[in-house]
Amino acid sequence: MTDRVIAIADSGRSKPLPRTGPLPVAGPLADSLGRHLRDLRISVTDRCNFRCIYCMPKEVFGPDYAFLDRSELLSFEEITRLARIFCSYGIEKIRLTGGEPLLRRNLERLIEMLSGIANLDLTLTTNGSLLARKARALRDAGLKRITVSLDSLDERVFRAMNDADFPVAKVIEGIEAAEAAGLAPIKINMVVKRGVNEDSILPMARHFRGSGHIVRYIEFMDVGASNGWRMDDVVPSAEVIRRIGEEMPLEPVEHNYEGEVAERWRYRDGPGEIGVISSVTQAFCRSCTRARLSTEGMLYTCLFASAGYDLRSLVRGQAGDAEIAAAIGAIWRQRSDRYSEIRTAETAKQRKVEMSYIGG
Ligand code: GTP
Ligand code: 5AD
Ligand code: SF4
Ligand code: SF4
Repeated sequence: MTDRVIAIADSGRSKPLPRTGPLPVAGPLADSLGRHLRDLRISVTDRCNFRCIYCMPKEVFGPDYAFLDRSELLSFEEITRLARIFCSYGIEKIRLTGGEPLLRRNLERLIEMLSGIANLDLTLTTNGSLLARKARALRDAGLKRITVSLDSLDERVFRAMNDADFPVAKVIEGIEAAEAAGLAPIKINMVVKRGVNEDSILPMARHFRGSGHIVRYIEFMDVGASNGWRMDDVVPSAEVIRRIGEEMPLEPVEHNYEGEVAERWRYRDGPGEIGVISSVTQAFCRSCTRARLSTEGMLYTCLFASAGYDLRSLVRGQAGDAEIAAAIGAIWRQRSDRYSEIRTAETAKQRKVEMSYIGG
């Protein structure tokens, strides 16, 4: 069969789809640097009820900010169709992201639809604000585990990070509800920003040690173009490990799976583990197996991309599953992203898609 080019309208932020190979294509898929496609992160909304200073600063995401229109969002049927096609390439994990994914109405229904896909690690990252109410329904719908963002246990610091009028106790309630519902393991993501919440590093470790939940400390990243990132604001993971280790000795643990983003550490004198995610000081692009599907159906092959591939127009056009699979295959095969490895002060200033749009 001859190679074909699938024509796509250029929405301004989209890249033309590459030349596709013969149809149908399926099975493991390697990019130009030999990295397999294993994880799919699906953003289900670009909206959020928090305004974290490192993600959706209020000055940019104010009352006049133009979020996506409902008609632009992929429907649950469209998402599920794409997810199934991605899974024909051996996707092992799907993570739902946002914005805040629990703001998407009837998300349980999407989870139910996705949980029909066999052998899938189906999970979600949330800010926890609606979790107390929704944990049980999410579990019943087929969600397996959950990750909750929580940047401090101290009310004042928590608010300084998320810039929303929301009590930290409600997030803790959400975590407890998730545990009671059987969503396990629970991971707690804490973005660390110098001078804002670094004093919460130890209290978070102390609080969650013994709970069975895993706190992961994340280096503040230059994702998007609005969070005013500076290298001086990054607390390197090595410092986090040193600070915790001085009080509670730690030792490294092997990765759970190849390409795991977090580096794992366990307490030497008892149960419990923590993780660090060092995208800035120790880039992990070499093993990056993640594709990201935006709320409106754009495929991004890197968190720091400035443009994506418009899969929605294929889905809403006449393309069949095999044709869409071929397009995804062609995109992944030519992928060469490794932003974190080549980051400089200059690249940090480039126009990139926002985290709230592409998903974390
Ligand atoms: P597990 O499935 O539990 O191993 O978690 P995960 O690795 O999928 O982690 P999660 O989605 O919670 O990611 C945690 C954070 O790591 C994200 O919010 C991002 O800040 C960062 N992160 C995740 N994936 C990438 C990536 O591909 N590149 C970079 N630079 N950062 C990433
Ligand atoms: N740096 C690091 N992590 C970020 N997140 C959002 N913005 C940033 C950033 N600038 C991550 C947080 C949060 C998830 C939804 O996205 O981990 O938990
Ligand atoms: Fe919302 Fe999560 Fe971004 Fe915070 S990090 S603004 S909770 S999407
Ligand atoms: Fe993957 Fe891009 Fe993150 Fe590197 S910077 S790990 S290529 S998403």
